[in-house]
Amino acid sequence: QPQKLWGGRFTGATDPLMDLYNASLPYDKKMYAADLEGTRVYTMGLEKIGLLTADELKEIHRGLKLIKEEWAEGKFVEKPGDEDIHTANERRLGEIIGRHIAGKVHTGRSRNDQVAVDMRLYVRDELRSVSNILSKLIQTIVARAEKEIDYLMPGYTHLQRAQPIRWSHWLSMYATYFTEDYKRLQQVIDRVNVCPLGAGAIAGHPYGIDREFIAKELGFNGVIGNSMTAVSDRDFVMETMFWICLFMNHVSRFSEDLILYCTSEFHFVTLADAYSTGSSLMPQKKNSDSLELLRGKSGRVFGNLAGFMMSMKGIPSTYDKDMQEDKEPLFDALTTVEHSILIATGVISTLTVHKEEMAAALSMDMLATDLADYLVKKGVPFRETHYISGECVRAAEEAHLSGIDKLSLEQFQAIDKRFGPDVFETFSFEKSVEERTSTGGTAKSAVLKQLASLEKQIGQ
Ligand code: ARG
Repeated sequence: QPQKLWGGRFTGATDPLMDLYNASLPYDKKMYAADLEGTRVYTMGLEKIGLLTADELKEIHRGLKLIKEEWAEGKFVEKPGDEDIHTANERRLGEIIGRHIAGKVHTGRSRNDQVAVDMRLYVRDELRSVSNILSKLIQTIVARAEKEIDYLMPGYTHLQRAQPIRWSHWLSMYATYFTEDYKRLQQVIDRVNVCPLGAGAIAGHPYGIDREFIAKELGFNGVIGNSMTAVSDRDFVMETMFWICLFMNHVSRFSEDLILYCTSEFHFVTLADAYSTGSSLMPQKKNSDSLELLRGKSGRVFGNLAGFMMSMKGIPSTYDKDMQEDKEPLFDALTTVEHSILIATGVISTLTVHKEEMAAALSMDMLATDLADYLVKKGVPFRETHYISGECVRAAEEAHLSGIDKLSLEQFQAIDKRFGPDVFETFSFEKSVEERTSTGGTAKSAVLKQLASLEKQIGQ
C-alpha cells in the first residue's frame, strides 16, 4: 500500500473498499486549479512569516505551475493513495520538487481549511459565470419583448382566460423574475467570497500567518472571523443550491407556460427544431423536450439541496467527513443550472410566435372587467359595477350571443340605465391593454419602461 499522508499512527491497512468509499478525487479533481491557487497563496503567507525561504517558495510555485499544466492537458497521473485533490496535488508536488521542500507546504494548514477555501474559490468562479450567462438570458428576453411589443394575447389566472395582455408583458414577467435572481446571485457571491484559509484544522494558526493578506491575494472580500466557523461552515454550499432551486423554480414555470402554448390547442408559439425531439413511433410528433427537461431538472436540484441539508443537519461541530457529501450535489446543481440557462436562452431566441393565433384566442368576456370600469368612470361604486357586468355576461350567454359586445344598447340599458351608446368603445383589446398605464401595467409605455428598467438593473 502507498504511504498515506496521515499514516504515522496506523499499523493496519485500510480495507480496499474503504479506500474507494473514502475517496473524493473522482469528483473533487474539478477543483484542481482552486486547490493549486490556494496553495500558491498560502505558501506566500508562509514565506512572509519566515517558514519558507524565497528560494523554496520559487521552487514550490514552479512545481504548482507544472501540476496545473498536467491537469489542464489531461496528463496528471492519479495514483493509488490519492484520496482527494489535496493529497493528489501534494503528492505530485513532492515528486516534482522533492519531498523535503514540498513537505513544508502544509505547515499550519489542514485539509479542513484547505477544502473550504477550494470550494469557495471554485463556487465563486462558477457563480460568476452563471451570472454572465444569466444576464444574457435576460437580455435575450428583453430584446424579444421590445421587438414584439404589439402582440396581444390572453393572460390567465387559474388557467382560465382572465384579461388581455401583451406577449411582451408575459416575457417581461419572467425577465423580472430572472432579474431578481440575478441580483440575489450577486449577494450570494458576496457571502461565498470570504476566506477560511489560515484557520487550520479547528483552532487557528500557530505561526501568526497573515490571513488578511491571504484573503486579499485570493480575491476574497475578507476573512471568516472564527476558525471553527471557517472549517465547519457549508452555508455557502446550501445557499448556492437554494439559489439554484429558486431560479429553477422560475424556469420551470416559464417552461410549463411555453409547453402549453406549444400545444395544438393553444398554438401560440412553435419551438424550433433545435430544441425539440420526435417520437420513435408516431411520425407526426414534435415534442417540447427542452422545456420538459427544464421543468424536470428543477426537481433534481431541489433533491440535491434537500439531500445535503439532511447530511448537515445533525453533525457535531466542526469538520466531519459527512461534509464531503457537499460536492456531488453541488457540482451537479451547478452544471444543471448552467446548461439550463443556455437551453432557455436558445429556446427563447429561436421560438416562432404566432401573433394572429394569440390575438384570435382573445375573447370578449375578457373585457368584462373593463365593462365594470366603464360604469366606475360614471361614478358607480366598483362592487356594484362588478355585479352589473356579471349580469351582462349572463344575459349574453342566455341569449346565445358570441360575446358581451353583441348585446344591444337596449339590452344593456335593461340591465342598467347608466349604460350609454359609448359603452361599445369598451370592446377593444387594444384599448384595454393601453388603459393600464401605471407602473407594471400592460400599456405599451408601461411595458417598455419595465424592459428598460430590467436592462438597467443588470447593468446593460
Ligand atoms: N476530501 C475531504 C472533503 O472533501 C477533504 C477534507 C478532509 N479532511 C479531513 N479531516 N479528513 O471534505
